Amino acid sequence: MSNQQIVVLVASMSGVAEMVADEVADKLLEAGHQARVVRMEKASQKMLDARDTYVICSSTYGTGEVPDNGKAFYELLTKDRPDLSSVRYGVIALGSMDYPQTFCGGGKAFDAIFAELGAKRLVDRMEHDAKSGVYPEDAALEWIDGWIEALTKEPA
Ligand SMILES: Cc1cc2nc3c(=O)[nH]c(=O)nc-3n(C[C@H](O)[C@H](O)[C@H](O)COP(=O)(O)O)c2cc1C
Repeated sequence: MSNQQIVVLVASMSGVAEMVADEVADKLLEAGHQARVVRMEKASQKMLDARDTYVICSSTYGTGEVPDNGKAFYELLTKDRPDLSSVRYGVIALGSMDYPQTFCGGGKAFDAIFAELGAKRLVDRMEHDAKSGVYPEDAALEWIDGWIEALTKEPA
């Protein structure tokens, strides 16, 4: 068991990322971690100060952009540039190869800004293609195993 708080931050337009986030949070709980899902419109600087570990679960809309409910948080990161050097994170990026030029752009954008602000990426970003025939929750549950393993090896 661990007292590590993990926040699964979700940016979603039509609910797929939310469903994936719920399953990932359940798996984190089963693994003995404290985890909760927070919709990104509720994310704040205060939350960034208080928590140190994140799983970002974001789909992609428009021309490779973050979903509407993630825009304010993305802007907070890019404009205020908080110091994330004590943060560990991972990214689950959802997209579709219907949009090859902007594939998984939402998750890629969060991954890039977290890294730029000094956060420690525990394992490579997961990318899911809605056209692949693979269920996103299945891919995410497999990916989170590796992320959990990396988390236990990487001290806070
Ligand atoms: C209008 C629209 C625009 C989209 N634009 C992109 C895109 O630019 N790049 C991409 O990889 N996926 C794009 N997608 C695919 C979604 O990101 C993908 O289907 C995702 O699984 C949806 O998750 P959500 O229900 O959590 O929003 C788009 C989907 C729609 C409906």
